[in-house]
Amino acid sequence: MKKINKVVIPAAGLGTRFLPASKVVPKELFTIVDQPILQINIDEAKEAGITEVILVVSPRKSSLADYFSDDPELESYLEERGQQDLLDKVKAITSQIRVTIVIQEEPKGLGHAILMAKAAVGDEPFAVMLPDDLVLHPVACLRQMMSVWQEHQLGCAAVRAVPEDRIHRYGVIKVERSHERIHYVNHLVEKPSAVEAPSNLAIVGRYLLPPQTFAILEQLNPGAIGEIQLTDALQGLAASEGFLAYEFEGDHFDAGDRLGFTVANVSYGLAHPEIGDELRQVLKELI
Ligand code: G1P
Repeated sequence: MKKINKVVIPAAGLGTRFLPASKVVPKELFTIVDQPILQINIDEAKEAGITEVILVVSPRKSSLADYFSDDPELESYLEERGQQDLLDKVKAITSQIRVTIVIQEEPKGLGHAILMAKAAVGDEPFAVMLPDDLVLHPVACLRQMMSVWQEHQLGCAAVRAVPEDRIHRYGVIKVERSHERIHYVNHLVEKPSAVEAPSNLAIVGRYLLPPQTFAILEQLNPGAIGEIQLTDALQGLAASEGFLAYEFEGDHFDAGDRLGFTVANVSYGLAHPEIGDELRQVLKELI
């Protein structure tokens, strides 16, 4: 069985919904309580057994690479002051994980961003995590999906049921047959209208993909909103070797949206061992 060791994290978007904050700070480094969104994703990847992160950035966001570079000055500052807990947090960023940065020169869509990672991934299955999507659960969403991979060795996307008025924001699957949380997919549509949507099951940004995905992406023409869409490549997989969708366990937050980002902060705050109880009390008083 082929083990999945690498994850591609596309982080090339401009984050315009968060301007002016995202003008200088990439939205992937915005904090959820006390962790950058990107770090939450990396920790989830590590929990799923991933050993290499391939981060796809735009030329404007090359500063994201700074997050992963050593900072001896900061480390000796913390060491001199005996702040071991903070030093550990800084060192943990790159422990047990290798980070490769790939540049996407032009914003041609999610599928195109993933294609930029082709050489770095090579001829092996890989995971994709869209950092805006956060899933809070004791067993990381990607780890749950690895169990599906071990059993089926087929490409797989995380899905959840969403209300009709939000379905147009997502890639949506058509289910051929299901077994518990696993669905066999025979059709996928990127950002359908509520009327066109083949189901209410929307893709959340976690995927496990075979290396053939790159060959399919290379053949694609621009799809929805004029961009090369990853969902269209998944359609190619569904039509050939087969494709699965997995209804994960956990609460999903779209941290790429102002409301979703705020709700994620409150939810992660409530689950936080140090501030959770106090936050619960403050929220009760506020409301
Ligand atoms: C992307 C995918 C879409 C998926 C969504 C999940 O869309 O294209 O299929 O449902 O992520 O967050 P985006 O959010 O980049 O518009």
